[in-house]
Amino acid sequence: MKELSNLALAVQPSTTMAIDAMFKQMKAEGQDVIGFGAGEPDFATPDHIKEAGIEAIHHNETKYTPSAGTLELRKAICQRMKEDLGLEYEPSQVAVSNGAKTCVYVALRALVNPGDEVILPAPYWVSYIELIRMVGGVPVVIDTTEQEHFKITAQKLAAAITPKTKCMILNNPSNPTGMMYSRKELEEIARVCVEKDIYVISDEIYCNLVYDGEEFVSLPTLSPEIKERTLLINGVSKSYAMTGWRIGYVAANPQVAKIISNYLSHCTGSPCTISQKAAAVAYSASQELVDTMRQAFERRRNYMVERMNQIEGVSCIQPHGAFYVMMNIEKLVGKEFHGTVIRDADDFGNLFLKYGKVAVVPGTGFGAPNFVRWSYATSIENIKEGLNRLEKFLKGETV
Ligand SMILES: Cc1ncc(COP(=O)(O)O)c(C=O)c1O
Repeated sequence: MKELSNLALAVQPSTTMAIDAMFKQMKAEGQDVIGFGAGEPDFATPDHIKEAGIEAIHHNETKYTPSAGTLELRKAICQRMKEDLGLEYEPSQVAVSNGAKTCVYVALRALVNPGDEVILPAPYWVSYIELIRMVGGVPVVIDTTEQEHFKITAQKLAAAITPKTKCMILNNPSNPTGMMYSRKELEEIARVCVEKDIYVISDEIYCNLVYDGEEFVSLPTLSPEIKERTLLINGVSKSYAMTGWRIGYVAANPQVAKIISNYLSHCTGSPCTISQKAAAVAYSASQELVDTMRQAFERRRNYMVERMNQIEGVSCIQPHGAFYVMMNIEKLVGKEFHGTVIRDADDFGNLFLKYGKVAVVPGTGFGAPNFVRWSYATSIENIKEGLNRLEKFLKGETV
């Protein structure tokens, strides 16, 4: 048989999904395991949003829609961006698709020619690096340290830009680190992007999950020049507990939005009609529940961070957004637990699942081999028990 596509063969499976699959298998076998791997809110989709989906079905709103989404939804998105972030976009500048993940993919498709470089700060969300490769781009990873709060600086960015650089991907607040850029840091980054004329795919999907009363700054608000070069990614998954409805969007300058819409018209047809109805209600109804969920996440973060830093051998810095904590396991590397020497986060993740009955995500897939990611999108009871188990595991006890 003929060879398969080289680009497709090079795609690695998602490590976050691999650990989640292992966790689910252990759970299905009846084992008492607790999962901190999932990147989705544990809350149910709010009732008024579910009702909108059900009504759409009853009213036979079950046919194709325009490829970039209904005008109703794109108007609701524009209104929400205006109210929440002070951003002005026309509905024609918004393309809705099957989750923010697809939107990152089509954004890269719109920008990248084979061989173009795409700058990616590490630790990064696992899918970015694979998506860059899937469009024939060359990822240029900028490493950051815990001391730097896992954030790149304008200087580091400028040093990584070459004549082949087409764009960078900036995720703010970040999965997996939970870190958030300040207005000043973003202004400096934006200045470099404009000066060097590169695009930015700004993934702001966690924009509503921000803590300690800190200000979230959306990149394209900073100047008309950076807005022109920004492909803004967002969606309903994290803010409205709607991961399974699969609605995300990209907002961009009219030319980019048009080519993305053309692209989508051939590869996805249109986003799910029923989900679009529900998403339109999510964006246009009262936003009170978004803040209720945010407050719950903040309480869980506070507990997790405080408790983790009391446990001998591990530590973490305080995240400012999203729902993840990066636990530093540097002190455990080279030590033996349950008869195995821990070399990196993969070893830790496997051993902790086997003997501690807790699933966390090794940072290896995020470009952070001495860290594991804990998601606090789970109940406070689970968080307490997970950290109890961590303590036991590190003492050499089996759960
Ligand atoms: C940074 C980031 N961007 C995008 C997504 C994908 O979101 P969606 O469910 O809308 O595809 C995720 C999901 O984990 C994410 O963490």
